[in-house]
Amino acid sequence: CYPSFATSNGFIQCLTEHIPSELIFTPGSINFTTMLVSTSKNSNFLTNTTVKPICIVTVKDASHVQAAVVCGRWNGVRLRVRSGGHDYEGLSYRSARAEVFAVVDLANLHTIAVCVPTATAWVDSGATIGQLYHAVAKTSPELGFPAGECPTIGVGGHFRGGGIGMMMRQYGLAVDHIVDAKMVDANGEILDRATMGEDLFWAIRGGAGESFGVVLSWKVKLVKVPSTVTMFRVTRTVEQGAVDIVTKWQDVGPTLPWDMNMMVRVQRQQAMFQALYLGRCDAILPTITSRLPELNATRSDCEEMTWLEAMAVIGNGNTNTTALLDRNVGFNSFFKVKSDYVRRAIDKGVWHKIFNTWFTMNATGWVMLEPHGGVMGTIPTEATPYPHRSGVLYIIQYIVGWSDDDGSASAARNWINNFYDFMAPYVTTSPREAYVNFRDLDIGQNTVVVNDVSTFDSCKMWGEKYFGGNFQRLAMVKGKVDPTDYFWNEQSIPPLLFHA
Ligand code: FDA
Repeated sequence: CYPSFATSNGFIQCLTEHIPSELIFTPGSINFTTMLVSTSKNSNFLTNTTVKPICIVTVKDASHVQAAVVCGRWNGVRLRVRSGGHDYEGLSYRSARAEVFAVVDLANLHTIAVCVPTATAWVDSGATIGQLYHAVAKTSPELGFPAGECPTIGVGGHFRGGGIGMMMRQYGLAVDHIVDAKMVDANGEILDRATMGEDLFWAIRGGAGESFGVVLSWKVKLVKVPSTVTMFRVTRTVEQGAVDIVTKWQDVGPTLPWDMNMMVRVQRQQAMFQALYLGRCDAILPTITSRLPELNATRSDCEEMTWLEAMAVIGNGNTNTTALLDRNVGFNSFFKVKSDYVRRAIDKGVWHKIFNTWFTMNATGWVMLEPHGGVMGTIPTEATPYPHRSGVLYIIQYIVGWSDDDGSASAARNWINNFYDFMAPYVTTSPREAYVNFRDLDIGQNTVVVNDVSTFDSCKMWGEKYFGGNFQRLAMVKGKVDPTDYFWNEQSIPPLLFHA
């Protein structure tokens, strides 16, 4: 049983025999807190009461990861792996229960090697997606990669859950483009696609990858991007017809040409439409004005630029592409996120209520609506663990933030929880789908643990929300590769074991 016989002294002794001591940070080390907070984004989990690791290992090569796994298993200390630290519930560096665990931090593993003739790249898990975009576009401006919008997200954590972003209607998710990977499994062995086999390779591409091992690097297929793309941004208030426009957008967004992605941010009394078109403004403006005339879009709402500049604008709000390399830009704050999927457009009356109720309160956050459709609707549900494909109109991300010192936390939490409850009749049901990369422990946790192994039945509640019918296959893969549930967290895949 991991927590009860865990020996932290034995573990750390074992680590120091295999890993240079300057890469190991224990709570007694001067730089322990600096290391702990170094890439962590959510300040909720950096408080005095947070259950913290007994050490952080800032690995520099694959052998260090292997040593951490072997020492961990030998001494009964579980590992959590951190790439970019953006986990919404902080599960890469904290535990929600009293537990002896260590963190393997991959931030030092960030090599990116782009191969133009094959339009592929090997990228280490500790690189950020901004660094990946930059490396790809600087090597060949005709190539890009379809992944998320925030440049500081770590590749390792992003790929473990899917990777939705502004090119997904044309090219799908980040995980749809992974063609090989190198990982360390629960036995400390290094595997690649050929040696891990197709089941495990399927599972690590979006199926809560931390449940299966530590992925060191990924080989991805790059995609073609034109030399000029168009960013389109327009904001409309409720007085300017935001309710009508958002209502209509629900049908228009998912059915626009595939090379156009128009997302919406609803906040207070405004809807902000932001689109990326893989071409010039003149080629898409007539489509926008005819499909969504209520927006009153004009040429001045378009801005033409390179694909890399567009990634910088989407991520940081300006065309400074060098900032994509900086893993420290962006916010660090207290926040909570939830997600939903919509398969049937929500009535105008409901949108009216949403604007009038949830966006007129003091403690309000915002929602991001990201359309699916395009190629997303053509990829079979079981192609990867991400099941939210055909028939999905859009994903909703609810976000609320607060500061620590003004007592606004409970009002903010109430806002998001009550808003989420209000939305239940209008979003998917049975299961109420959720996106695993927008991690939300409220939808369920691995609470029933027998002999230190999570039970399949007790995890179904949250597992099917994230993975639909793919959850059982993930649990079967877990049963084969990590039957003792070494790679465990509050929402790791439970092993499903079949005895002859
Ligand atoms: P972190 O290091 O915290 O890891 C997250 C999870 O993955 C943890 O469980 C961790 O153990 C596991 N993990 C990390 N590296 C691993 C590895 N090498 N092998 C196995 N498991 C590993 N998502 C999206 O799809 N599109 C978007 O546009 C955005 N935008 C966005 C903005 C902001 C500000 C945040 C905070 C988050 C997002 N996300 C997102 C969500 C993001 O994709 C998600 O949180 C990722 O898991 C973050 O990956 P990191 O490596 O940064 O996190």
